[in-house]
Amino acid sequence: MDLKKEYRIKLVSKEFLNSDTCYLGFECPDIANTAVPGQFVNISAGTVFLKRPFGIASTDKEKGIFYIGVKVVGKGTSEISLFGIGTEVDCLGPLGNGFDFEDYDNVILTGGGTGVFPINFAYETLTAAGKNVTVCEGFRNASQVILNKPSYILTTDCGDCGIKGTVIAGLDTIDITDPSKTIVCCVGPIPMMKAVNAWASGKELKCLVSMEQRMACGAGICLCCTVKVKDDGPDGYKNVRCCKDGPVFDGKEVVW
Ligand SMILES: Cc1cc2nc3c(=O)[nH]c(=O)nc-3n(C[C@H](O)[C@H](O)[C@H](O)COP(=O)(O)OP(=O)(O)OC[C@H]3O[C@@H](n4cnc5c(N)ncnc54)[C@H](O)[C@@H]3O)c2cc1C
Ligand code: FES
Repeated sequence: MDLKKEYRIKLVSKEFLNSDTCYLGFECPDIANTAVPGQFVNISAGTVFLKRPFGIASTDKEKGIFYIGVKVVGKGTSEISLFGIGTEVDCLGPLGNGFDFEDYDNVILTGGGTGVFPINFAYETLTAAGKNVTVCEGFRNASQVILNKPSYILTTDCGDCGIKGTVIAGLDTIDITDPSKTIVCCVGPIPMMKAVNAWASGKELKCLVSMEQRMACGAGICLCCTVKVKDDGPDGYKNVRCCKDGPVFDGKEVVW
């Protein structure tokens, strides 16, 4: 484990985005200054034994703060959502590889659920770098919509907000002029990433997906977070570690 990546971080801001999701800012200049989109942190969750992983949602390098969004789904996320300002916890990060969109002029970012947090960080980084960015996000319904911007293509399953349907209905509205210079980056539930990868493949676009396996150590040691990727060996696949070898993978390499 890279001990330089272990920090004591302090909660400095907190807001609720909807009934079960909050947006937290932690002071940690090293993480704020070095994190790249697609990387994550592994944070101690109060009395819960193992740290919990969260994609980095934004950074403020000047103030030395990084942000995460936390949807409450169990004990760990519930305890994190109850942290008060000033709470100090242990944190590993930034972890994982992040998105490599360096060689592309046009980036299509697409996300759903808590995937919109890493997508937000990618959007901020890419727009600051002057890249041509299109964002398409999907939610179940209007009450679930978070971190949305007017320029984003928005879809909802029930159609009470934005385009009715999945993100694929939104992606279909995008005019792709130069596939060789366009990349798709996707973070969301597995069925969504599988569908987006198939959509991108049909348009001959490279598609990066960020897998969110359940994790324990977050540092490549325990092997509990494996992802199956294609391989030339007898099985046709091999297991790699989501936390260390990912979480971002080329969608065409993943065994869906
Ligand atoms: C790389 C990565 C990035 C992530 N980014 C975010 C993020 O930005 N915001 C966010 O809110 N969550 C994110 N998650 C998911 C988050 O880590 C889990 O929701 C959290 O660990 C659950 O902890 P818990 O103690 O509250 O729930 P538990 O009691 O451990 O589990 C409660 C329920 O959540 C499910 N669950 C737990 N972990 C995961 C997971 N990794 N994927 C899908 N379902 C899970 C369990 O199967 C169970 O049904 C990310 C996960 C990974 C691996
Ligand atoms: S969580 Fe331990 S190896 Fe990935």
